[in-house]
Amino acid sequence: MIKICRQNKLTSPKIADLCAGSGCIAVTLKKELPLADITAVELSPDAMRYLRANAELNSADIQIIEGDVLSPDTAALLRDMDIIVSNPPYVTAEEMAVLQREVRHEPETALFGGNDGLDFYREMTKLYRASLKNRGFLCYEFGDRQHEQVGNILAGNGFDNINFTCDLAGIIRTVTAQKQEDK
Ligand SMILES: C[S@@+](CC[C@H](N)C(=O)[O-])C[C@H]1O[C@@H](n2cnc3c(N)ncnc32)[C@H](O)[C@@H]1O
Repeated sequence: MIKICRQNKLTSPKIADLCAGSGCIAVTLKKELPLADITAVELSPDAMRYLRANAELNSADIQIIEGDVLSPDTAALLRDMDIIVSNPPYVTAEEMAVLQREVRHEPETALFGGNDGLDFYREMTKLYRASLKNRGFLCYEFGDRQHEQVGNILAGNGFDNINFTCDLAGIIRTVTAQKQEDK
């Protein structure tokens, strides 16, 4: 996202981080892009405590919305965004049954993405298209082997310039896509 901002000369971009959790993405972006106008949305009151504390600890002046990202009312609060980013829950029902020990202590709401793990991508891609400017960017993190389906969801909802990036283990892990012009 930082590269996107630099390449597209977005010096004071409007950015929303959906499912912000502890605020690691929103706070880092604010530190790297001090002129950016950043809004973080999170549902869990427990996570919200960390989000507020991390923003304060890092002197990151960001807006915080306590709300459900899947609600049209929340989407209506975000308009004319240059970039929307999300690392939503993406664990499948099958994977939930055999979670690794180190993630088992996380609450289910932070992990479970529906039967096939893709519920948030389907809903958010539809819902937040209208929150982006023309040619605005939607950026997602997703689970191992979900890239093809996430790419298809983006293409099917009027996004192009779909680019994937690998994580440090070589697993295809993130995508950026651009909203096609509204006709
Ligand atoms: C996989 S964690 C990601 C946290 C953070 N973005 C990160 O990258 O570390 C998913 C987050 O989504 C939040 N969440 C789950 N359902 C939500 C919803 N309907 N609306 C807003 N946040 C939600 C969870 O509480 C959790 O903090």
